[in-house]
Amino acid sequence: MKLLRLIANLGYGSRREVAGWFHDGRVTDVSGAVLDQDARVAPAQVRIDGEPLDPPPGLVVLLHKPVGYTCSTKDPGRLIYDLLPRRYRYRDPLLSPVGRLDRDTSGLLLLTDDGALLHRIISPKSNIAKCYEAVLAQDLRGDEGAIFASGTLLLDGEKTPLLPAELEVISPRSARLTLHEGRYHQVRRMFAATGNHVTALHRSAVGALALDGLAAGEWRALAPADIVRVFAR
Ligand code: URA
Repeated sequence: MKLLRLIANLGYGSRREVAGWFHDGRVTDVSGAVLDQDARVAPAQVRIDGEPLDPPPGLVVLLHKPVGYTCSTKDPGRLIYDLLPRRYRYRDPLLSPVGRLDRDTSGLLLLTDDGALLHRIISPKSNIAKCYEAVLAQDLRGDEGAIFASGTLLLDGEKTPLLPAELEVISPRSARLTLHEGRYHQVRRMFAATGNHVTALHRSAVGALALDGLAAGEWRALAPADIVRVFAR
């Protein structure tokens, strides 16, 4: 892909704006040599005002989503995109969340512009475990683990029962729940089906990938080795 198009597609500006930057000599290689807008150069070699270019398409971002942010590009209120560099919102292909977390859920959220990878992660065939830590309004009754593991729990308004899920009790009012699918508000609805109410929810892992010290609101681009961990059992 020609450099002008690559840079514009990364959300830096319109093609006209980016063409102006080439004209002004702001786009260079690592040695500072001015590049032409038609140049075909490895993105890692390109600098804009001396700064490395954002990662090219194939980007996977790991975000620690805080409570209060919506997984959307245009809802009113705070958006997950507010936590990323502004131009990431304008990338083409679009950087999309891999599944969603509710506004009131915190934790591990992936975003990618790689549609095939996104579908592989969310596909039930991949059977990727998603681990949630839930705080509850009432003490656990004791039968929730068996109900969630049964493979017969039918949520309100649904036609197919949930896949078996694993519950680990942490305290009378907190538990870790591991799911192998991702239905709408699934964790909250599962506990509601047992007469309880989730007061706080956090996703701690997707596959073998965890937040590993990433603080709420922080993010990092993933390396291929991290992506392998998403699919690891
Ligand atoms: N289940 C929920 O209820 N909410 C989430 O955000 C994710 C899973």
